[in-house]
Amino acid sequence: MRYVLGIESSCDETAASVIENGRIVRSSIIASQIDSHRQYGGVVPEIASRKHLDNVSEVVEKALSDANVTFDDIDGIAVTNGPGLIGALLVGVCYAKAAAFALGKPLIGVHHIEGHIFSSVFEYSPIEYPALALIVSGGHTDIFLIRKPHEYERLGHTRDDAAGEAFDKIARLLGLGYPGGPVVDRLALTGDAKRAKLVYRPPQIPDAPFDFSFSGLKTATQRFIRENELTPVADLDNVPEPILDVCASFQHAVVKTLCGTLERAIEEYQPMMVLTGGGVVCNSALRTALREVGDKMGVEVRIPTPKFTTDNAAMIAAAGYARLMRGERAGSNLEANPVMKLHTTETLRSKRFKM
Ligand code: KG4
Ligand code: ZN
Repeated sequence: MRYVLGIESSCDETAASVIENGRIVRSSIIASQIDSHRQYGGVVPEIASRKHLDNVSEVVEKALSDANVTFDDIDGIAVTNGPGLIGALLVGVCYAKAAAFALGKPLIGVHHIEGHIFSSVFEYSPIEYPALALIVSGGHTDIFLIRKPHEYERLGHTRDDAAGEAFDKIARLLGLGYPGGPVVDRLALTGDAKRAKLVYRPPQIPDAPFDFSFSGLKTATQRFIRENELTPVADLDNVPEPILDVCASFQHAVVKTLCGTLERAIEEYQPMMVLTGGGVVCNSALRTALREVGDKMGVEVRIPTPKFTTDNAAMIAAAGYARLMRGERAGSNLEANPVMKLHTTETLRSKRFKM
């Protein structure tokens, strides 16, 4: 198996990629829909599906031509089949099924989070197990223990908002636009976290020590904004100092929560390495803190470059390649599953949507 075509359409990015031998990215095309959703302050599912339909053929063709290959050269097709927006997922899944059927090529469905877990393979040596994975995105904040390839034990997840969602909500309150993470990251660089004291008690979840919760922090930030009468930013090039400070303080709290929990998991499970992924792993403060965790705990923490931590199809192709190499194949009955889980086999029985 040399060339795998990956297709990703679970949320607001239509992406396709050709990878070679599981680890070399020959092309990675991403058609972002952010401009179409920005005016609504978040992703509108109906618009997402329509945009995927408009873009999918062109994105796949560009991925093939940039990789200098044709459909005939492709040895397998990997597509995200969950979780995500059902209408969005269906576009990628239907396209991949049709292509695999028409070309007589092997097909595999990939869990979006497994894609994020594989996003380090292009820049690092192969994954060694047991590994821990910290995935932090707009929809997920999870820690997995991976004792063996493709066997995921979820140690913790968010009880409420995902970290990226919290960034986006705070940014919306401050009038910083969508998506919020990158702007908050940039503004936090010049803010002083100590000047904006956010009063909240991190939740204690005794029976789930690796779970996260960001709603208390979000409420504390909202309260701070209200009590200090901070108004939405009118000019992003001229942001008042107290808003810079709130961004720094909020971000500091998120980073501290993520890294504190990760440190405890490393201590308990002594992994060979830690894999990270998801859009929030683009965050500059988080990247620095993750490197410090690695140094402090004496474990390799893999932090992919931002183009691989955010949604892309190369990571889907990489996870799909690993499964195809194990002989796994999806049939023409492959379904899109908006609530697909990664961590137990029984969840395969969860609610599905027929195509
Ligand atoms: O993984 P991703 O591209 O899509 C999902 O699967 O959700 O993650 C998108 C999320 C958004 O919530 C966005 O605000 C956040 O990642 N994000 C960031 C940064 N860049 C993107 N959050 C914090 N700091 C950043 N630099
Ligand atoms: Zn993602």
